[in-house]
Amino acid sequence: MTSAGPLGDHPQRDYARKLRQFNAFAGPDLHSLMTAAGLRPGMAVLDAGCGTGETLGRLANIVGPDGMAVGVDLSAPHIAATASQRTPRGLVQADLTRLPLHAGSFDFIWCANTINHLRDAVDALRGMSALLRPGGRIALGQSSFLPDMYFAWDLRLERLVNEAVRQYYRDRYGLDERDLTAVRALVGLMREAGLGNVQPRTIAIERVSPVDAATEAYLQEAIFRQTWGERLRPYLADEDYAQLERLCDPRHPAYALRRPDFHFIHTFTLVTGSP
Ligand SMILES: C[S@@+](CC[C@H](N)C(=O)[O-])C[C@H]1O[C@@H](n2cnc3c(N)ncnc32)[C@H](O)[C@@H]1O
Repeated sequence: MTSAGPLGDHPQRDYARKLRQFNAFAGPDLHSLMTAAGLRPGMAVLDAGCGTGETLGRLANIVGPDGMAVGVDLSAPHIAATASQRTPRGLVQADLTRLPLHAGSFDFIWCANTINHLRDAVDALRGMSALLRPGGRIALGQSSFLPDMYFAWDLRLERLVNEAVRQYYRDRYGLDERDLTAVRALVGLMREAGLGNVQPRTIAIERVSPVDAATEAYLQEAIFRQTWGERLRPYLADEDYAQLERLCDPRHPAYALRRPDFHFIHTFTLVTGSP
């Protein structure tokens, strides 16, 4: 039995809904990064921490019928969600720190928003690197963590909310800011794992009002309701929490996504390297 990861992952954990919403929001923007990182038709690609499989579908489309796309994930519900998409691909339910795959099987490994879920990222990276063929590349991707997301309306409230999120992570998972440096830790992780030719590239996914349906669904569910919902109440003064609630409430005239000054910036950093 695998013990829960630092962010609470275990083989039965299910946050498929949130992953689907994230991929509907950000997926199209990530596509161009895959080809820019060197993924080509005919390659064998592994999606390490494939979640609900939207990205695996994109990777499979790029490598085409002459290539091979395999997804690996710890979570049975996420593997089941990926399997339900029915695009031809291989799927393995496994722990990335103990991969049951042959050395030298892949040309490219894509690992997005997953390395920060592992207890020993450097060790896991070394294990993944061993799966690459000569000339292969590994690509670690990371969305900006919530404290780096910017909303335009009120910097004071944003600062308090970000601090409340940090306090929540400290209390719930025992993680402090030094553990939450995921984006800019990627280059160092790659080098520590012995990878060379390490190259970062960051894109900004920006939205202004009126937002499209996928953006609204993602922001409402993953951020307004889950990240900023009830769980932040203990960490904010009553009036600040009430203000945040109004901004996140689609029935309220102050609803953030209808404000003319709504401007949201979400970054996604991809760092590639070779053994
Ligand atoms: C934040 S999600 C990202 C999923 C996907 N890459 C995406 O971008 O939508 C992290 C994924 O890593 C998986 N995961 C967490 N710890 C893992 C481990 N030790 N081995 C394999 N997968 C793991 C989770 O089940 C989850 O699907």
